[in-house]
Amino acid sequence: MKFSERLDKLAPYPFVEISRIIAEKRAAGADVVTFGIGDPDIPTPQPIIDRLLAASEVPANHRYPETDGLPELRRAMAYWYQNRFGVKLDPDTEVLPLIGAKEGIGHAALCFLDPGDVALVPDPAYPVYGVGTMFAGAESHVMPLYQKNGWLPELDSIPADVARAAKVMWLNYPNNPTSAVATDEDFSSAIAYCRDNEIALLHDAAYSEVGYDGYRAGSFLQVAGSSEIGLEFHSLSKTYNMTGWRIGMAVGNAEMIKALFQIKANLDSGIPQAVQEMAMEALTGPQDCVAENVATYKWRRDRVIQALTKMGLQVEVPRASLYVWAPVPEGYKSAEFAARLLEDIDIVVTPGSSYGQYGEGYIRLSLTTPNEQVEKGCQRLETWRIPPPNGG
Ligand SMILES: Cc1ncc(COP(=O)(O)O)c(C=O)c1O
Repeated sequence: MKFSERLDKLAPYPFVEISRIIAEKRAAGADVVTFGIGDPDIPTPQPIIDRLLAASEVPANHRYPETDGLPELRRAMAYWYQNRFGVKLDPDTEVLPLIGAKEGIGHAALCFLDPGDVALVPDPAYPVYGVGTMFAGAESHVMPLYQKNGWLPELDSIPADVARAAKVMWLNYPNNPTSAVATDEDFSSAIAYCRDNEIALLHDAAYSEVGYDGYRAGSFLQVAGSSEIGLEFHSLSKTYNMTGWRIGMAVGNAEMIKALFQIKANLDSGIPQAVQEMAMEALTGPQDCVAENVATYKWRRDRVIQALTKMGLQVEVPRASLYVWAPVPEGYKSAEFAARLLEDIDIVVTPGSSYGQYGEGYIRLSLTTPNEQVEKGCQRLETWRIPPPNGG
C-alpha cells in the first residue's frame, strides 16, 4: 500500500503515545498518577446533561445537522460573546459552530494556505496549528516563544520577506503549554503587524475562562481592527467540562467565517443537534459552574507549585489555563526527565519538546486530575530524590 507523503511527515500525536504508555503501565499493575492531557475530570454540569437527555428524544435531532448549526445555537454563541466580552456578533455571518476548536483550527489552514505558502506558527504551541499548515501543503515559519518575552512572539524578529509571504499567523492566549497571558496591547501589536502585511490573524482562546487570582482573559475581538483581519477560535471543552461532547466555535470576520463554512460544508456534516442543545444550555444558563471549576483548579495549581518548588524547580505561577509549565532540572532534557518521573514514581507529565523545539527544557503538568490524585502525585514528587541526568 502506498500512503501519502504527509503521513510520513506526521509525528505520532503526543497524547496517543502517552495514553499507550499509561495503559501499558497500568496493565502491569502500576499506580500511575497522570498530569498529562488537559481533559477536565469534573463531570459536565447536570443541567447540560439533562438537556442532552431531553434532546435525544426528539426525532428531528436524529437527522443530519446543518454544517453551520441551529440558528438558536449561533444566537447563543453570539449572546455569550456579548455577555462575557461585550463583543457584538452577527449570529448569521460572524459565528460558526465547530466540532470542537481542534476541528476548526485544522480546517482553517485549508481556507488560507496553498502549497508553498507560509504560516507564522508559535513554538512551543498546540500542535494542530503546524499540522494543519502541513496538511495544506504550506510551510510553518516558527515564531519562538521565550520566557524573557512573557512567551509572546517577537514580531520584529520575523524577516521582512517572510512577513510579506505569510498568509496566516496563529496566536493562543491564555497559552497552552506555557500558561502565558496576553494584554490588549499585545493583541493590538499583532493586529497592526498582520494588517500591514496582509496576514490573517487566527487567535485560539480555548482557555479564556480559566483565570486565577482575579485574572480574566479578554477576547482578541475586543481590540480595534481585529474583526477586519481575524477569527477567534473558542471551545466549550474546558469551560464547561465538555471535551467529550465536541463543540466549539469560530467567530469574527464574516468573509473568513464564510470561507471556513465552505471548507467544512464539503467535509463534515455538523455537530449532532442534541450536543448543540447542550451548548445552548451551557452558554445561556447559569455560569456558576465556571467559577466552581476555577476554584478547584486553583487549589490544584497551588498544590502542584508547592510540590515543584520543594523539588527545587523554579516555577512561574500561572494566571490562567489548566497547566503548570516548569523548567526541568539542569542537565536534563524534557523527554528524559518525563521518562524518569514515569519510571521512578509512576507520574505522567508532558515533555515540553512535544510542543516544539522551543519547549525543550520544560515539562507541562495538567491540573485536570482529581484532587486526591493531585495530592498523591505531589507527595511522590516532594519525596523523590531527583537522580543525576544521564551523563550527569
Ligand atoms: C490551545 C488549544 N486549542 C484548542 C484545543 C482543542 O479544543 P477542543 O476540545 O474544542 O477541540 C485545545 C485542547 O487541548 C488546546 O489546548
